[in-house]
Amino acid sequence: MNLVVLISGTGSNLQAVIDACKSGKIHGRVAAVVSNRADAYGLKRAQAADIHTAVISHQDHPDRAQYDAALIAEIDRHQPDLLIMAGFMRILTPAFVNHYAGRMLNIHPSLLPKYQGLHTHQRALDAGDSEHGASVHFVTEELDGGPVILQAKVPVFADDTVEELAQRVHVQEHQIYPLVINWFCQQRLVMKEGKAWLDGECLPVSGYASDDDGVEQPAE
Ligand code: GAR
Repeated sequence: MNLVVLISGTGSNLQAVIDACKSGKIHGRVAAVVSNRADAYGLKRAQAADIHTAVISHQDHPDRAQYDAALIAEIDRHQPDLLIMAGFMRILTPAFVNHYAGRMLNIHPSLLPKYQGLHTHQRALDAGDSEHGASVHFVTEELDGGPVILQAKVPVFADDTVEELAQRVHVQEHQIYPLVINWFCQQRLVMKEGKAWLDGECLPVSGYASDDDGVEQPAE
């Protein structure tokens, strides 16, 4: 399967995907890495692995619609079976999301539906949570709201800094993202009727949010 990875920064998740493709843990190849920032360190990781890179800067486009159209044009040159968001820090238009419906994954640094959006580690610390983590989900029009496929939990310790907690979450991200990507590559994972299905079984909706998150608890 052809994979295209979108990044904005360090690219440690990209590296985990590249390594997993190389070792055969993912049955696919990274055809291209696209960044919205020319200074993203992940571009160097891709180049070191002889992977095609492209920078499509949001600063060169007057609005979101035109930016996303340029992004689609670049991505589709590589005929992706799966589009992988790996720390791509841009809000996507519905037109973009719908173009890749059912073949776009994201990793988010929280136990969704808790802490959609930014500053997830700080918010978990501020809330005094005893556990935190990461979620892999299909991307839909709702920001960080698509069906969750797999989550990994980490403990939160009383004296944790944001950096320590982020690092603990990262270690887990590098485990769960390649695993889920491979499920997709092996055609075991699909999105159907707005839900994620693995081996023909509908994956349970996660329910980590507490009442005070302002997030409605999913029905059991
Ligand atoms: C990861 O922790 C990922 O979960 C997060 O950005 C980081 C990228 O790290 N993504 C988001 O916050 C998306 N909303 P990386 O560049 O080292 O892979």
